[in-house]
Order: sequence, then structure tokens, then C-alpha cells
Amino acid sequence: MVCLGNICRSPLAEGILQSKLSSQSFFVDSAGTAGYHVGELPDKRSIEVANKYGINITDQRSRKFNKSDFKEFDFIFAMDENNYDDIVSMSDNYEETQKVKMILNELYPKENRSVPDPYYGGDQGFENVYRMLDEACNIIASKLEK
Ligand code: 4NP
Repeated sequence: MVCLGNICRSPLAEGILQSKLSSQSFFVDSAGTAGYHVGELPDKRSIEVANKYGINITDQRSRKFNKSDFKEFDFIFAMDENNYDDIVSMSDNYEETQKVKMILNELYPKENRSVPDPYYGGDQGFENVYRMLDEACNIIASKLEK
């Protein structure tokens, strides 16, 4: 799960997807394309909205996406088109490029919709982000558990 800062959207996506999967079988992680917040906890508004739905994301610390992630992971979900372009620009070959998906294409195939960045907004933005990621992760989890 990849966004810009790895403190708002992708930590929620990581926590939500992990909560829907059997943790023995799947490793879910998140990262940011920028390093502004490396080592930090998720944004407190993300922590709060996750708590509200029974998910604890306080074990997470921000890290920067790096090229070894293409080797480590089978799927890489970008939150928005900038994240997608930044990740794809780091890929070395077609196989790596193909791992990168726009997460909302799970819900709205081929529309390339973005999860809006809630960083500069209010709490309602985090609630909206939570709900759209929850729906997308339902689909991802059902595909993976097949
Ligand atoms: P995120 O949100 O990409 O969902 O983690 C942001 C967090 C921090 C910044 C931008 C977006 N920032 O500019 O510091």
C-alpha cells in the first residue's frame, strides 16, 4: 500500500487489508513515495478513524518505498495517480510495472480514480478515505483468499 507520506492513507490501507486476511498467509505493508515523515507514527486522525472501526495501526512507522519492494511484494497498490507514476518510474521491467495497481480500480475498474489526500482537510476526509479503502480491501481480500 503506497501513498505520498505513508502517514495518512496507506497506513489505513495496510491495517484494513491485514484485518481482512489471515495473517499467517499474507504479509501486508505500506510505504510512501516521499521521505518527509520517515520513522513517524501514522497521523493521529488516521489512528483515530482506524480505532473507531476496531483496527490498531500504532505499530506502524512511516518508511519510504524502495526498489527492493518490487522483489518483496506480489502486488503494489497506489492510492493516487502521482503515487502510481512515481512507483512505476522506479520499476526496472514489465513484470515489476505490472505489479503496480491503482487501489480504487478494484472498485471502479479502469477509471483510475484516486483516494483523495486527506492531510490538509478535516476529520470527515479521513472517514471518507477509510470507507473507500474498506470497500476496496473487501475486494482485494476476497480475491487473495480464493
Ligand atoms: P499521505 O498524506 O500521503 O496519505 O500519507 C500526506 C501526508 C503528508 C504530506 C502529504 C500527504 N506532507 O506533505 O507532508
